[in-house]
Order: sequence, then structure tokens, then C-alpha cells
Amino acid sequence: MNKNNKGFPKDFLWGGATAANQIEGAYLTDGKGLSTSDFAAYKDPYAKGKVDNFTFNVSSEELKAYKENPDDYLFPKRWGIDFYNRYKEDIALFAEMGFKTFRLSISWARIFPTGLEDEPNEQGLEFYDKVFDECKKYGIEPLVTMSHYEMPITLTEKYNGWVSRQLIPLFEKFARVILNRYKDKVKYWITFNEMNMNLNSLYTGAGVLADLVDDPLEAAYQASHNQFLASALAVKAMKEIIPDGKIGCMINQIESYALTTKPEDQLQALKSNQLNYFYPDVQVRGEYPTYMTRYFEDNNINVEMEEGDAEILKEGKVDYVAISYYMSHVTEAREDASKLAGTFDSPIKNEHLELTQWDWPIDPIGLRISLIKLYDRYEIPLFVCENGLGAKDELTADGKVHDDYRIDYLEKHVIQMKEAIKDGVDLMGYTTWGCIDLVSCGTSQMTKRYGFIYVDQDDKGEGSLERYRKDSFHWYKEVIATNGEKL
Ligand code: BG6
Repeated sequence: MNKNNKGFPKDFLWGGATAANQIEGAYLTDGKGLSTSDFAAYKDPYAKGKVDNFTFNVSSEELKAYKENPDDYLFPKRWGIDFYNRYKEDIALFAEMGFKTFRLSISWARIFPTGLEDEPNEQGLEFYDKVFDECKKYGIEPLVTMSHYEMPITLTEKYNGWVSRQLIPLFEKFARVILNRYKDKVKYWITFNEMNMNLNSLYTGAGVLADLVDDPLEAAYQASHNQFLASALAVKAMKEIIPDGKIGCMINQIESYALTTKPEDQLQALKSNQLNYFYPDVQVRGEYPTYMTRYFEDNNINVEMEEGDAEILKEGKVDYVAISYYMSHVTEAREDASKLAGTFDSPIKNEHLELTQWDWPIDPIGLRISLIKLYDRYEIPLFVCENGLGAKDELTADGKVHDDYRIDYLEKHVIQMKEAIKDGVDLMGYTTWGCIDLVSCGTSQMTKRYGFIYVDQDDKGEGSLERYRKDSFHWYKEVIATNGEKL
């Protein structure tokens, strides 16, 4: 029985979330190698007249041009927000808000610069030691994502990323190194960030140059299969190395609603949701769900599997399911419906929802629906490890940001999480996305801000990098202090 159905449990993990490639900067410092995210060139998101939420896909031609003439482009993820040098100040601000946990990722290329070395880069390991020690100083539990949208670029150039099985042992080596190194400092882990985004962001999610594969959809499922195996091996390793640790899988949870009550539309909504659930289905249950057999046949997808894969998946079941949650979708029975599941720019609008400045539908009740459905399906703990509002903020002359719109957005989502807990969901924690302003994943913009802390830097990397507390900083501090009672 879930005894916590009165509201947030006492040990609820409130905090914030980031990713190495969006905050650290220092892209070649202390032995770090180049990673895929170092080649996410800034493109004007307004070039087509309306905002373009592209998530990064890079072609082989583009990569060649970026390597040959780097000065012709801007690569904001190379400088991030200089967390590499300012982590003490930033963690102190998180502590001031009362964070119980801080989600961050480890850059694979900082530990193994090309991914191929036998020995890890000691200076890279030392950096995360310092970060975790700093968290510990304030009683903040780190929540570490092993792979958040980046990998050594060498693995893209040599193997075309995760379409190759060669990456599995390389990732396992990386996972074992970090698990052993940080076993006394990190108890909460996630293997891959939003693995379901491989379906529309092959380069970002899997380091794959899509123009070099015959069928990008098949490649996305092959890359996902290889990541499932790598993830399962990492789960197994964590259980050996950190017996009291907890390790989860993660998806970008986008609930698909049917446009009408027509059974055909309802059926499509069910199928679109299955395409999302596929990822936790494999990682929670340790095997492929039967519905994918037909989907693969209908779409001519052949995922190459080897003997022994089934056993690896069985032995690598996760302890909890983490989700990022930003929006819901609407679907209907139409040819391209499956392709649209999980994309950021759905052509079908939900007339009941308002949109963010980046046209993302705002749907707090969709979060509650998602949590209830996921918990019904798996009956293991859930974690909302990303949620937030990307918005333009204005810094006033006296160093304030009056972001009542962000407070409103977050408050509505916190209320729905609380309702979901009352509905019986076992929820471990909530880490809002981009607790400090960072470089956007999808657009590489700085102006798309999510933070409680304003960072003085623009899209081109100009600015003092000074940090300022926004109004939402004080609001969140109060939410944490009252364990979600004062909303
Ligand atoms: C999630 C990613 O999909 O969404 C984050 O895990 C990302 O890395 C976040 O930053 C918000 O997306 P964006 O494109 O607004 O930065």
C-alpha cells in the first residue's frame, strides 16, 4: 500500500536538473575530447518566420564543414554557462533554495576523450569528484545521468554512433569507471536521457549521421536496441558496485490524446502512446513488448539482435522510471500519425491548451494523467526529472527578474503531481529542468530560459555570466521548505 497518498512524502527529492553539455563549457579543458554536442551549431530559430523547435540532427556534410571551418559557426554548447569554473557558486545557490537533489550528467568525452582509450582521463574524473563533494557539503544528493545527449565525436566518425554494437562495450567500460569512482558519492543514477527521442533526433540521441544510413527509422530502432543493451549492462554493474543505489530509465513523456471519440482516433492514441511506452516496457520488464512485432513488420524494420541479448535485457531491469514532461499531444487516425508521436511540432493543435513562447502546449493535468498511467503500468517508483517553462526573461536595472509566468507554470504542475500522489502514485522526486539558465538543447539558444537563476549571457555568448535570483527562486525555496504545502 502506498502510505503517502496525503501529499508529498517526507523524503521527497526536490531539486533541479541540468546536462553537462548545456552548462559546463570548458569544452577542451583538462583533456576533454570533442563530443557530438560540440557540433550543435547555432541556427536562427526564427529564420522561417515562426519559431523552429528543431532538435539537433547533423548531416555528414555539416559535420565536415563544422570541423573544417569552425570559425564560421557558433557552437554555444562549447561554452555553456561556464559551470566548469563556477560550480561552487551555482551549487551554493541551489543549496540556498533548499535542493535535496541536483540532477546533472557526466560528459563521456571528459572521461574517455575519444571513447576508445583504455584508461580514463584522471582530470575529468577529478572535476566530478569536486562537484559531488560540493553537493555533499550542503546535503544535496546528486542524481547522475550517464548519457545526456552527447558522446565522443570519434564514435560518430568511426562507427556512426549507436547504430553500431561496438559502442556497447565502450559504454559499459565508461559506466563501470564512473560507478566505481563515485560509488560512495552518488546513489541515484539514470542510464540514458530520453531514449525515445532517438526517433526524431538521431544525432542528438544516438550520435548517428542520418544521411549515412538507408532507413533512419530502422536506424533509430537499431540504435535504441544497442542502447537498451548498454543500459542493461550499466544497470547490472550498478547493482554489483552500489548495492544500495537506485538506477532508472528515462523517457520524454508526451501523452497522446485522441482528437475525437471516433474509435479509429482512440486506437491511434493508444498506438502512439505505445511507441513511447516501448522504452520503459523494455527496461522495466526486461523484454520487448509483443505489440512491437507488428509495428516492425508494418514498417519494414529489421532490428539485428544477437544470441544472448534477451538474457542481458532480463538481467538489467531498472528500479524506477524517470520522465521529462513538457507537453501533451493530439493525434488522429492518419497516415503519418506514428511519425508524429513524440515530435515537438505536431500539426494537430489542442484548442483547450495555451502555448509557450516556443509553441509548446501547456498541460499540467497531462502530467497527472501520465503519472497515473505509468504507475498503473509498472507499479514501480516514478521520478519527474525534467519539467519547466522555456521563456524570454527580462533582467531589470536593479538585477531582478519578475517571472510570475514561470511560477504559474510550475505551480500548476506541482499541484498535479500532488494530486497524482493522492491518486496512489509512488513519486520519488521532482527536478525542474534548467534550474539555472542554460543553453537550450533543441535550439542552442540562451534566450530560451528555464531557470530560477538568471545567467547574464546572450545567444552569441556575450555577457558577464553574473548570476541573479529570479522571483521564482524565492517561490521554489518556499515550496521546498514547506514540502509542497505552500503553493
Ligand atoms: C529535454 C532534454 O528534452 O528537454 C533537455 O532532456 C532539454 O536536454 C529540454 O534542454 C528542453 O528542451 P529545449 O530544447 O527547450 O532546451
